[in-house]
Amino acid sequence: MARIIAGLGSPHAPAVGAAVDRNDEESPYWKPLFDGYKPMREWLARERPDVIILFTNDHFTSFFLDFIPTFAIAVAGRHEIADEGWGKRPLPEVPGHTDLAAHLAQQLVDSGFDMAVCHRLPLDHGSLSPLSALMPHVKQWPVCVVPILVNVLHFPIPSAARCFQLGRAIRRAVARYEDDLKVAVLGTGGLSHQLAGERFGLINPAWDAEFLDRLENDPESLAALSHRELIERGGTEGVEVIMWLCMRGALSVRVRRVHRNYYHATLTGYAQVIFEDTENLPRADDPAARLIPPP
Ligand code: DHB
Ligand code: FE
Repeated sequence: MARIIAGLGSPHAPAVGAAVDRNDEESPYWKPLFDGYKPMREWLARERPDVIILFTNDHFTSFFLDFIPTFAIAVAGRHEIADEGWGKRPLPEVPGHTDLAAHLAQQLVDSGFDMAVCHRLPLDHGSLSPLSALMPHVKQWPVCVVPILVNVLHFPIPSAARCFQLGRAIRRAVARYEDDLKVAVLGTGGLSHQLAGERFGLINPAWDAEFLDRLENDPESLAALSHRELIERGGTEGVEVIMWLCMRGALSVRVRRVHRNYYHATLTGYAQVIFEDTENLPRADDPAARLIPPP
Protein backbone atom coordinates (compact mmCIF):
# COMPACT_ATOMS: atom_id res chain seq x y z
CA MET A 1 0.00 0.00 0.00
CA ALA A 2 1.24 3.48 -0.77
CA ARG A 3 1.33 5.89 2.14
CA ILE A 4 1.85 9.58 2.65
CA ILE A 5 4.72 10.14 5.05
CA ALA A 6 4.80 13.94 5.18
CA GLY A 7 3.81 17.26 3.72
CA LEU A 8 6.38 19.85 2.72
CA GLY A 9 5.87 23.49 1.88
CA SER A 10 8.15 25.63 -0.24
CA PRO A 11 8.10 28.95 -2.05
CA HIS A 12 8.28 28.87 -5.81
CA ALA A 13 9.33 32.36 -6.92
CA PRO A 14 11.57 32.29 -10.00
CA ALA A 15 14.30 34.17 -8.11
CA VAL A 16 14.75 31.11 -5.88
CA GLY A 17 15.59 28.89 -8.85
CA ALA A 18 17.90 31.56 -10.27
CA ALA A 19 19.75 31.74 -6.93
CA VAL A 20 20.21 27.94 -7.03
CA ASP A 21 21.64 28.14 -10.56
CA ARG A 22 24.03 30.95 -9.56
CA ASN A 23 25.17 29.14 -6.38
CA ASP A 24 24.12 32.23 -4.50
CA GLU A 25 22.89 30.49 -1.35
CA GLU A 26 25.35 32.07 1.06
CA SER A 27 24.88 35.73 0.09
CA PRO A 28 23.33 37.87 2.86
CA TYR A 29 20.16 38.28 0.78
CA TRP A 30 19.57 34.57 0.22
CA LYS A 31 21.13 32.83 3.22
CA PRO A 32 18.06 33.15 5.48
CA LEU A 33 16.02 31.35 2.82
CA PHE A 34 18.52 28.66 1.89
CA ASP A 35 19.31 27.91 5.54
CA GLY A 36 15.66 26.89 5.63
CA TYR A 37 16.22 24.37 2.83
CA LYS A 38 19.07 22.58 4.64
CA PRO A 39 16.84 20.60 7.04
CA MET A 40 14.55 19.79 4.11
CA ARG A 41 17.43 18.43 2.02
CA GLU A 42 18.54 16.35 5.00
CA TRP A 43 15.00 15.11 5.56
CA LEU A 44 14.63 14.07 1.89
CA ALA A 45 18.02 12.31 1.93
CA ARG A 46 17.05 10.45 5.10
CA GLU A 47 13.43 9.56 4.35
CA ARG A 48 13.89 8.98 0.59
CA PRO A 49 10.29 9.23 -0.61
CA ASP A 50 9.62 7.35 -3.86
CA VAL A 51 7.20 9.96 -5.15
CA ILE A 52 6.44 13.62 -4.54
CA ILE A 53 2.89 14.71 -5.29
CA LEU A 54 3.51 18.33 -6.19
CA PHE A 55 0.76 20.91 -5.76
CA THR A 56 1.75 23.66 -8.10
CA ASN A 57 0.44 26.10 -10.65
CA ASP A 58 1.31 26.99 -14.17
CA HIS A 59 2.15 30.66 -14.84
CA PHE A 60 0.83 30.99 -18.40
CA THR A 61 3.65 28.72 -19.57
CA SER A 62 1.95 25.45 -20.52
CA PHE A 63 -1.61 26.81 -20.26
CA PHE A 64 -2.68 30.19 -21.57
CA LEU A 65 -5.89 32.21 -21.59
CA ASP A 66 -7.38 29.96 -24.26
CA PHE A 67 -7.32 26.96 -21.93
CA ILE A 68 -7.03 27.00 -18.14
CA PRO A 69 -8.05 23.84 -16.30
CA THR A 70 -9.15 24.39 -12.72
CA PHE A 71 -7.39 21.23 -11.58
CA ALA A 72 -5.06 19.14 -13.74
CA ILE A 73 -2.79 16.15 -13.23
CA ALA A 74 0.30 15.32 -15.27
CA VAL A 75 0.52 11.62 -16.08
CA ALA A 76 3.55 11.68 -18.38
CA GLY A 77 6.58 9.49 -17.70
CA ARG A 78 8.84 12.55 -17.92
CA HIS A 79 8.15 16.24 -17.48
CA GLU A 80 10.05 18.67 -19.70
CA ILE A 81 11.78 21.78 -18.45
CA ALA A 82 9.79 24.73 -19.79
CA ASP A 83 11.40 27.72 -21.45
CA GLU A 84 9.82 30.72 -19.73
CA GLY A 85 11.37 33.18 -22.14
CA TRP A 86 15.03 33.29 -21.19
CA GLY A 87 16.02 29.71 -22.12
CA LYS A 88 15.57 26.45 -20.28
CA ARG A 89 17.22 26.11 -16.90
CA PRO A 90 20.04 23.54 -16.86
CA LEU A 91 17.98 20.86 -15.14
CA PRO A 92 17.37 17.23 -16.05
CA GLU A 93 13.85 16.34 -17.12
CA VAL A 94 11.72 15.39 -14.14
CA PRO A 95 10.61 11.75 -13.93
CA GLY A 96 6.89 11.24 -13.57
CA HIS A 97 5.04 8.20 -12.24
CA THR A 98 2.48 7.32 -14.86
CA ASP A 99 0.95 4.39 -13.01
CA LEU A 100 0.34 6.27 -9.76
CA ALA A 101 -0.78 9.39 -11.64
CA ALA A 102 -3.29 7.42 -13.73
CA HIS A 103 -4.58 5.78 -10.55
CA LEU A 104 -4.97 9.18 -8.90
CA ALA A 105 -6.72 10.58 -11.96
CA GLN A 106 -9.24 7.72 -11.96
CA GLN A 107 -9.83 7.85 -8.23
CA LEU A 108 -10.21 11.62 -8.22
CA VAL A 109 -12.72 11.58 -11.05
CA ASP A 110 -14.58 8.80 -9.24
CA SER A 111 -14.74 10.97 -6.12
CA GLY A 112 -16.03 14.05 -7.91
CA PHE A 113 -12.84 15.88 -8.91
CA ASP A 114 -12.98 16.00 -12.69
CA MET A 115 -9.31 16.54 -13.38
CA ALA A 116 -7.87 17.60 -16.70
CA VAL A 117 -5.37 14.90 -17.59
CA CYS A 118 -2.12 16.12 -19.16
CA HIS A 119 0.01 13.70 -21.15
CA ARG A 120 2.58 16.43 -21.71
CA LEU A 121 3.17 19.24 -19.28
CA PRO A 122 6.41 21.23 -19.38
CA LEU A 123 7.07 22.52 -15.85
CA ASP A 124 7.78 26.19 -15.05
CA HIS A 125 9.17 27.97 -11.98
CA GLY A 126 6.09 27.00 -10.00
CA SER A 127 7.49 23.46 -9.94
CA LEU A 128 11.17 23.85 -10.72
CA SER A 129 12.09 26.52 -8.16
CA PRO A 130 11.02 24.30 -5.25
CA LEU A 131 12.34 21.04 -6.75
CA SER A 132 15.75 22.53 -7.52
CA ALA A 133 16.01 24.22 -4.12
CA LEU A 134 15.11 20.98 -2.35
CA MET A 135 17.41 18.82 -4.52
CA PRO A 136 20.04 21.19 -5.94
CA HIS A 137 22.35 20.41 -8.86
CA VAL A 138 21.29 16.79 -9.36
CA LYS A 139 22.24 14.90 -12.54
CA GLN A 140 19.11 12.80 -12.09
CA TRP A 141 16.22 13.53 -9.76
CA PRO A 142 16.17 10.97 -6.93
CA VAL A 143 12.36 10.94 -6.79
CA CYS A 144 9.42 10.69 -9.19
CA VAL A 145 7.07 13.67 -9.32
CA VAL A 146 3.32 13.71 -9.97
CA PRO A 147 2.32 17.35 -10.57
CA ILE A 148 -1.20 18.42 -9.63
CA LEU A 149 -1.91 21.81 -11.16
CA VAL A 150 -4.25 24.28 -9.50
CA ASN A 151 -5.49 27.38 -11.28
CA VAL A 152 -4.57 30.27 -9.00
CA LEU A 153 -4.11 32.88 -11.73
CA HIS A 154 -7.33 33.52 -13.55
CA PHE A 155 -10.79 33.65 -11.98
CA PRO A 156 -12.75 31.54 -11.38
CA ILE A 157 -10.19 29.77 -9.20
CA PRO A 158 -11.09 26.90 -6.88
CA SER A 159 -12.08 27.70 -3.30
CA ALA A 160 -9.77 27.07 -0.36
CA ALA A 161 -12.28 24.50 0.86
CA ARG A 162 -12.25 22.67 -2.47
CA CYS A 163 -8.44 22.58 -2.44
CA PHE A 164 -8.44 21.15 1.08
CA GLN A 165 -10.95 18.51 -0.03
CA LEU A 166 -8.79 17.68 -3.06
CA GLY A 167 -5.98 16.94 -0.63
CA ARG A 168 -8.25 14.64 1.37
CA ALA A 169 -9.35 12.83 -1.80
CA ILE A 170 -5.70 12.35 -2.75
CA ARG A 171 -4.98 10.90 0.69
CA ARG A 172 -7.73 8.31 0.18
CA ALA A 173 -6.55 7.56 -3.35
CA VAL A 174 -2.93 7.07 -2.28
CA ALA A 175 -4.04 4.62 0.41
CA ARG A 176 -5.82 2.60 -2.28
CA TYR A 177 -2.71 2.26 -4.46
CA GLU A 178 -1.42 -1.28 -4.15
CA ASP A 179 2.33 -0.81 -4.56
CA ASP A 180 4.34 -0.04 -1.48
CA LEU A 181 5.34 3.57 -2.17
CA LYS A 182 6.50 6.27 0.24
CA VAL A 183 4.83 9.47 -0.85
CA ALA A 184 5.53 13.06 0.19
CA VAL A 185 3.15 15.86 -0.74
CA LEU A 186 4.59 19.28 -1.50
CA GLY A 187 2.65 22.54 -1.44
CA THR A 188 4.25 25.42 -3.28
CA GLY A 189 3.97 29.16 -3.68
CA GLY A 190 3.22 32.08 -1.41
CA LEU A 191 3.16 33.15 1.14
CA SER A 192 2.02 36.80 1.07
CA HIS A 193 2.84 38.70 -2.09
CA GLN A 194 1.23 40.97 -4.64
CA LEU A 195 2.93 41.53 -7.97
CA ALA A 196 0.64 44.14 -9.55
CA GLY A 197 -1.79 46.93 -8.78
CA GLU A 198 -2.00 49.49 -5.98
CA ARG A 199 -0.71 47.14 -3.33
CA PHE A 200 2.27 45.97 -5.43
CA GLY A 201 4.98 44.68 -3.09
CA LEU A 202 2.63 43.86 -0.21
CA ILE A 203 4.09 41.43 2.34
CA ASN A 204 2.23 40.62 5.57
CA PRO A 205 4.51 38.71 7.97
CA ALA A 206 1.90 38.71 10.75
CA TRP A 207 -0.63 37.02 8.47
CA ASP A 208 2.00 34.60 7.19
CA ALA A 209 2.83 33.56 10.78
CA GLU A 210 -0.86 33.12 11.59
CA PHE A 211 -1.36 31.15 8.39
CA LEU A 212 1.45 28.75 9.28
CA ASP A 213 0.11 28.25 12.83
CA ARG A 214 -3.39 27.55 11.58
CA LEU A 215 -2.16 25.37 8.72
CA GLU A 216 -0.55 23.13 11.28
CA ASN A 217 -3.22 23.10 13.98
CA ASP A 218 -6.51 24.26 12.51
CA PRO A 219 -6.40 23.96 8.72
CA GLU A 220 -10.17 23.70 8.38
CA SER A 221 -10.49 27.28 9.62
CA LEU A 222 -8.26 28.37 6.72
CA ALA A 223 -10.24 26.25 4.29
CA ALA A 224 -13.32 28.24 5.31
CA LEU A 225 -11.81 31.55 4.13
CA SER A 226 -12.94 33.21 0.91
CA HIS A 227 -10.57 34.34 -1.81
CA ARG A 228 -11.33 37.93 -0.79
CA GLU A 229 -10.25 37.26 2.79
CA LEU A 230 -7.07 35.51 1.66
CA ILE A 231 -6.24 38.30 -0.79
CA GLU A 232 -6.97 41.10 1.68
CA ARG A 233 -4.47 39.60 4.10
CA GLY A 234 -1.90 38.04 1.79
CA GLY A 235 -2.11 39.99 -1.47
CA THR A 236 -3.47 38.92 -4.85
CA GLU A 237 -0.74 36.38 -5.59
CA GLY A 238 -0.80 35.37 -1.91
CA VAL A 239 -3.94 33.42 -2.82
CA GLU A 240 -1.46 30.75 -3.98
CA VAL A 241 -1.61 29.45 -0.41
CA ILE A 242 -4.62 27.40 -1.46
CA MET A 243 -2.00 24.98 -2.82
CA TRP A 244 -0.63 24.64 0.73
CA LEU A 245 -4.17 23.68 1.77
CA CYS A 246 -4.12 20.89 -0.83
CA MET A 247 -0.96 19.62 0.84
CA ARG A 248 -2.38 19.89 4.35
CA GLY A 249 -5.61 18.17 3.33
CA ALA A 250 -3.59 15.14 2.26
CA LEU A 251 -2.15 14.71 5.77
CA SER A 252 -3.42 13.22 9.02
CA VAL A 253 -5.61 15.40 11.23
CA ARG A 254 -2.71 15.86 13.61
CA VAL A 255 0.73 16.43 12.16
CA ARG A 256 4.18 16.53 13.71
CA ARG A 257 5.94 19.74 12.70
CA VAL A 258 9.62 18.97 12.28
CA HIS A 259 10.61 22.14 10.42
CA ARG A 260 9.41 25.69 9.90
CA ASN A 261 11.29 28.66 8.52
CA TYR A 262 10.16 32.12 7.43
CA TYR A 263 11.94 34.94 5.64
CA HIS A 264 10.65 37.88 3.69
CA ALA A 265 12.67 39.47 0.97
CA THR A 266 11.90 42.12 -1.61
CA LEU A 267 8.59 40.91 -2.98
CA THR A 268 7.51 37.72 -1.25
CA GLY A 269 7.01 36.15 2.15
CA TYR A 270 8.91 32.87 1.92
CA ALA A 271 7.99 29.93 4.16
CA GLN A 272 9.19 26.36 4.43
CA VAL A 273 7.69 23.56 6.51
CA ILE A 274 7.85 19.83 7.04
CA PHE A 275 4.79 18.26 8.66
CA GLU A 276 5.17 14.54 9.29
CA ASP A 277 2.05 12.44 9.08
CA THR A 278 1.11 11.03 12.49
CA GLU A 279 -1.09 8.19 11.26
CA ASN A 280 1.26 6.62 8.80
CA LEU A 281 4.54 6.97 10.67
CA PRO A 282 3.66 6.60 14.35
CA ARG A 283 6.44 6.93 16.86
CA ALA A 284 6.50 5.07 20.13
CA ASP A 285 6.68 8.33 22.08
CA ASP A 286 3.67 9.85 20.32
CA PRO A 287 0.45 9.37 22.31
CA ALA A 288 -1.42 9.24 19.00
CA ALA A 289 0.58 6.17 18.04
CA ARG A 290 -1.24 4.08 20.64
CA LEU A 291 -4.51 4.73 18.86
CA ILE A 292 -3.29 3.19 15.65
CA PRO A 293 -3.66 -0.54 15.19
CA PRO A 294 -0.56 -2.37 13.95
CA PRO A 295 -0.53 -3.13 10.21
C1 DHB B 1 7.22 35.85 -8.53
C2 DHB B 1 6.51 34.96 -9.31
C3 DHB B 1 5.71 34.02 -8.71
O1 DHB B 1 5.04 33.10 -9.43
C4 DHB B 1 5.58 33.97 -7.35
O2 DHB B 1 4.73 33.05 -6.84
C5 DHB B 1 6.29 34.85 -6.55
C6 DHB B 1 7.11 35.81 -7.16
C7 DHB B 1 8.08 36.86 -9.19
O3 DHB B 1 8.04 36.98 -10.41
O4 DHB B 1 8.82 37.54 -8.47
FE1 FE C 1 3.60 31.97 -8.36
